[in-house]
This record gives sequence, C-alpha cells and structure tokens, in this order.
Amino acid sequence: ASILVLHGPNLNLLGTREPGVYGAVTLAQINQRLAELADSLGHRLQSLQSNAEHALIDRIHAARDENIEYILINPAAFTHTSVAIRDALLAVSIPFIEVHLSNVYKREPFRHHSYFSDVAEGVICGLGAQGYELALQAAVHRIEQAKR
Ligand code: DQA
Repeated sequence: ASILVLHGPNLNLLGTREPGVYGAVTLAQINQRLAELADSLGHRLQSLQSNAEHALIDRIHAARDENIEYILINPAAFTHTSVAIRDALLAVSIPFIEVHLSNVYKREPFRHHSYFSDVAEGVICGLGAQGYELALQAAVHRIEQAKR
C-alpha cells in the first residue's frame, strides 16, 4: 500500500531546533528510516514537510486521487490551531495516526488541545523519532488486517 507521512511547520529544523525537547535526529534521517522500514514491510512511503497550511491541505486532497491508504501526520503547531487540516483529513476519509515527538501533555497548556486526536485512529506522543516508526508499524498492521 501507499502510505503518506506529513510533517508540519518548523519540523524541517529538527536536529537543531530545541534539541532538548525534540532530539538530535534530523527530518531527513526520520524520513529515510521510515522509507526503509516501509520498504522492508513491502509498502511504499512518501513524505512531505511544509510550513504552509495550504500545502499540507493540497497534499491531503491529492492523496485521495493517488489511493494513499494511510496517513501519518505530525501537524506540529497546526495541531493546536488548524480546523482546516482536520477538515481536509475528514474530507478524504483516509485513516490517520497523529504523531508528536514531545510529550505535549508535559508542556504548556495550549499544547494540550489537538484538533486531530478525536478523529485520529491513534495518537503517539512523547517517544521522539521512534514514535513515527511505531506509528508506521501500526498503520501497516491495520492496512493488512483490513485486507484479510
Ligand atoms: C510537536 C508539538 C507541537 O506542540 C509543536 O508545535 C511542534 C512539534 C511535536 O512533535 O512534539 O512543532 O508536534
């Protein structure tokens, strides 16, 4: 199956951005690891990072035409603000897992609300870059279960 990974604003700076909070691993390393893992499990993975809300929305719309079966998304700061990205995910009705590197519940109160969690299949937060790998494993498991 085709799986899409979306990364929201400022995640292009991973590796140098607040490493105490987000870790030292870069986005390129995360994407490469995910692509290898998807490949080893017999699936295809595409990824996009954008600082622009509309670019993420357009990519979600295109995903439906491309028969993307599953989305992993770290909406970053848009987690706490974007009704529009939430609506895009609902509009294409592609199941998704929400991922955060940091444990948002240990942080400022404004990070405790997500516009995604109540419509996500699952949420992983606080496990750093490994959270994306766990999300990918869960997505593959669910895709394969659905085909049985
Ligand atoms: C984040 C948490 C958000 O609150 C923050 O705005 C981010 C990254 C995370 O992965 O921990 O940019 O989504």
